[in-house]
Amino acid sequence: MPESIEDQRPTARVLPHELPTALRDAGLTNWIREPLDDAVDRRRRIIMPPAAAVMGTPMSGHQGALLAEARHPDTVFMMGDNPALPTMPERPALKDFFLLRFGRIPRTHLLQSARVARENGLDEKVITACLLHDIAIAGLLTANHGYWGAQLVRPYVDEEVAWAIEKHEALRYFPDESVGYRYPQAYVDYFGADYSPPDYLRREHEAARKHRWYMTSRLVTINDIYSFDPDVVVDFDEFEDVVGRNFRQPAEGLGFDGSPVAHMWRTMIWPNNFL
Ligand SMILES: [Fe+2]
Ligand SMILES: [Fe+2]
Repeated sequence: MPESIEDQRPTARVLPHELPTALRDAGLTNWIREPLDDAVDRRRRIIMPPAAAVMGTPMSGHQGALLAEARHPDTVFMMGDNPALPTMPERPALKDFFLLRFGRIPRTHLLQSARVARENGLDEKVITACLLHDIAIAGLLTANHGYWGAQLVRPYVDEEVAWAIEKHEALRYFPDESVGYRYPQAYVDYFGADYSPPDYLRREHEAARKHRWYMTSRLVTINDIYSFDPDVVVDFDEFEDVVGRNFRQPAEGLGFDGSPVAHMWRTMIWPNNFL
């Protein structure tokens, strides 16, 4: 039995071993961080890909190999800060997720959408909804992104903002010529000209059309269309005032306020945790 914490440390004398060829051939090196100089313990860290990311792909067959690899004394699963990601502050705010976690493309898309909404003189609720509408794509999950996104922000924004974010996903598929909204060309490119949205989205759209907040969500889709210029740079601070008035930032930090969605923010802080 180890007598002290010192004895429990994996020994530094174990040299990192070569990744088995089978795992290399399967492309699993993408999920494994080799020991780096910036890792104090020099251990290899394995990232187990989330089920939602690999289900239905060849990667899903290699879970066992990754579990076996973790039994090696120089190898552990990723838990806590991944050195490949910037460290988040102890009490992260919305801005920290935008700057330290979200990829450049979705971040730019969100900021540009909000900027267009502001330039169009729209209500702060619409600007806020535009700023946050694809937050799930930026940091969590792509499928059902409107619903994940609405859930993420619901405790911190006006219910109308959360509703608009949730419904924009369905509304994107259905034109409303009366306000100049057409089916997006991007969706023809992404899904093919013959794609037809499933029944549950049709029902969502029909119900949303009759809702008193319909236009708030529709405006999200209208400002969504013209917001894909990757060369335009928008500073998050441009929206500091809008965020200050429309997003109730918890004092404990997002992820640590005990809200029903705190775990979702923690998942974005430590997206590679094994558990
Ligand atoms: Fe969206
Ligand atoms: Fe969008």
